[in-house]
Amino acid sequence: TKRFGILTAGGDCPGLNPAIRGICKAAHLEYGMEIIGIEEGYRGLVEGRGRLLQPRDFSGIIHKGGTILGTSRERPFKDPVKVDMMIDNYRKWNLDCLVVLGGNGSQKRAHWLAEQGLNVIGLPKTIDNDVVGTDMTFGFHSALDVATDAVDRLHTTAQSHRRVLIAEIMGNEAGWLTLYSGIAGGADVILIPELFYDIDIIRNHINRRLSKPGGFSVIAIAEGARSRDQKDLSKKDVKKLRAQGLSSGVQLAAALNEREGVEARVSILGYLQRGGSPVPYDRVLATQFGTKGAELLARGDYGKMVALQGQDITAIPLAETAGKTKYVPVEELAIRSAKAAGTCFGME
Ligand code: F6P
Repeated sequence: TKRFGILTAGGDCPGLNPAIRGICKAAHLEYGMEIIGIEEGYRGLVEGRGRLLQPRDFSGIIHKGGTILGTSRERPFKDPVKVDMMIDNYRKWNLDCLVVLGGNGSQKRAHWLAEQGLNVIGLPKTIDNDVVGTDMTFGFHSALDVATDAVDRLHTTAQSHRRVLIAEIMGNEAGWLTLYSGIAGGADVILIPELFYDIDIIRNHINRRLSKPGGFSVIAIAEGARSRDQKDLSKKDVKKLRAQGLSSGVQLAAALNEREGVEARVSILGYLQRGGSPVPYDRVLATQFGTKGAELLARGDYGKMVALQGQDITAIPLAETAGKTKYVPVEELAIRSAKAAGTCFGME
C-alpha cells in the first residue's frame, strides 16, 4: 500500500478542504492508499504531528472554508536540526510522497524538500492567484466574490455622501484580486502593484467626477500598490509600513484628504477575503486538482505541481514555479478593457 502525507501551508484560503477531500478520496477509494494528515503545515512535519486519516475525516467538508489540517507560516528550512526532523518524520511515517497544498512560498519549499531527496507533489492554492505555471489557483474566485461585494457596497455610501471610498484589497505583491474585483464592482480607479500610480492623475480624475452633480468615486487599491514616489520601496518595506498601520489604502486616503473638498475614507477588507465557504468554482477546481494529484501519486510522478492551463488540468515540474511570482501582465486585456470603460489606473 502506498502512503502519502498531506499538509496545508501558508495563509488559509477557501478551497483547501475541497482539495484535501478530492485527493484523499481519489487516492484512498480508487487506489487504496493510506494518508497521514499533517497538522499546521511544515510545523507539524517538524514536530511529527500527524495521524492516519479515515474516510470520515475527509468526508462532508467540500463546503467548508479554512483547512481541517490547520496551517502555519512556519518556515523551518534554515535550521538544520528542524530540516533533519522533517526528513526523519517523513521516513518514520514511511511516506512515499509528501503532498503540499500551498501558495508561492510553500511551493518553493516543497521544491526545496524535493531537492533534499523527498518525493513531493504540490497543489497551488491562494487567493492571490500569483503562482507561476497555473492559470488559476483555488481560493481566488471565493476571495473575488467577497472583494467584489465590498466594492459594490462601498458604492452606496460613496454615492449618498459624495465621498471617495477606498477598498484596500489583498493579493500580496500581485494585482489580480484588485484588478478583477475592481472591474467586476465597477471601481472608478484601480491601483495595482504592477503599475506605479501618480497621485496627481488620481486627483484630477476624482475632481472631475466630484464636480459633476452627484459625483463620487470608489477606488480599488491593492495592498501592494505603490505610487511613483514610492518606487524605491522594496516589497519588504511595503509590508513593514502595513504592519505599522500605514497600508497602501491608508496612505492614499491621507494624500487625497490633503485637498480641500475631498472626503476620502478607506475600508481594509483584510481577512474577510480569506474567510467563509468556497464558491462553486473553487470547489470544482480544487476537486480536479486533488484528483489529478492522486493520479500523479499513483504513477509515482513526483516533483510536480498540479496546474490549470487553458481547459486542461496538468502538472509542471516544481522547479518551473519555485521562487517565482505571477504578476498581472501590463498589457492584460482586462486592463485594456477597464481603461476603455473609463477606469483610471493612476497613469497617463
Ligand atoms: O497570500 C495570501 C494573503 O492573504 C495575501 O493576500 C496577504 O498579503 C497575506 O496572505 C497576509 O498574510 P498573513 O496571513 O500572514 O497576515
